[in-house]
Amino acid sequence: MKDKDDFGFLAELLRRRSGLMLGNQRPRFAETRLAPVVRRFGFKSTHELVNDLRHGHETLAEAVVEAMTVNDSAFFRDRKMFDEFRDGMLPGLLARRADKKRLRIWCAACASGQEPYSVAMLLEDAALRSLGWKIDLIATDISTDSVARAENGYYSPFEVQRGLSDWRLNEYFTKEGDGWRIKDSIRRMVVFRQFNILDSLGWLWEMDVVFCRNVLMYFDHKMRASVLEQISDIMAPDGTLVTGSAETIVPPASFYSRPERIPGLYSKLREAPARRRTAS
Ligand SMILES: C[S@@+](CC[C@H](N)C(=O)[O-])C[C@H]1O[C@@H](n2cnc3c(N)ncnc32)[C@H](O)[C@@H]1O
Repeated sequence: MKDKDDFGFLAELLRRRSGLMLGNQRPRFAETRLAPVVRRFGFKSTHELVNDLRHGHETLAEAVVEAMTVNDSAFFRDRKMFDEFRDGMLPGLLARRADKKRLRIWCAACASGQEPYSVAMLLEDAALRSLGWKIDLIATDISTDSVARAENGYYSPFEVQRGLSDWRLNEYFTKEGDGWRIKDSIRRMVVFRQFNILDSLGWLWEMDVVFCRNVLMYFDHKMRASVLEQISDIMAPDGTLVTGSAETIVPPASFYSRPERIPGLYSKLREAPARRRTAS
């Protein structure tokens, strides 16, 4: 992208709408990601596209945000974190929730579904539903396309090779065409919804575990802190926040305790300051 103003405009649009920071050094990245949108909307260049954006073209703005977001994911990404979920977090939760028999989990930026489905498979391994547990597993993402893909639950051979053992693939997927489809029993455990984490979280409550992985690192410090404070509001008093283990996210110390055993894991502080709720 030759025009600095165009890049600046795009970067600001993206920051305002999704929290994502482009950084000055990535005009070529922007150009590559936007090429399909330029073609789809019939523009001759990125410059033309940006000109149209400047006139407040809403559908175009949504397509641009969609194209610019990094949505790579994998089943059981950061394996250690999922081992910790299965062997540490989950047994603790099951003991503490034994009276209610209800678990509430939110995957805040679920991309094409590998993360919530990994959680669902672990819960199913533990046969929780047949033991009478009610599971609320909510998965959201800003990208409509990603959420649609996630709900569809169909993955290429490359995608299933990333993180799934043969046993798991055979247990929870069915071969279909060239790829694999997640079984309905797992798919139905997850409620998907398109949602921007910069918006009000008022519709979420008492989450036992919040996975917010590999998205906050693209936000600036202020937005990240604000999102993390909001997340603390909608967590159960003994709730756990899971960030990506390679992200160096430090949540506000008045809302979360210092990292637990493994990097990326935080406990909500019971004495976290109460914040004013906004209705969604
Ligand atoms: C790199 S993927 C991470 C997926 C998954 N959490 C993981 O760790 O494998 C980042 C995801 O964040 C989503 N995202 C970016 N900004 C967002 C926002 N403001 N609200 C919700 N999701 C957002 C993107 O659409 C993308 O699917």
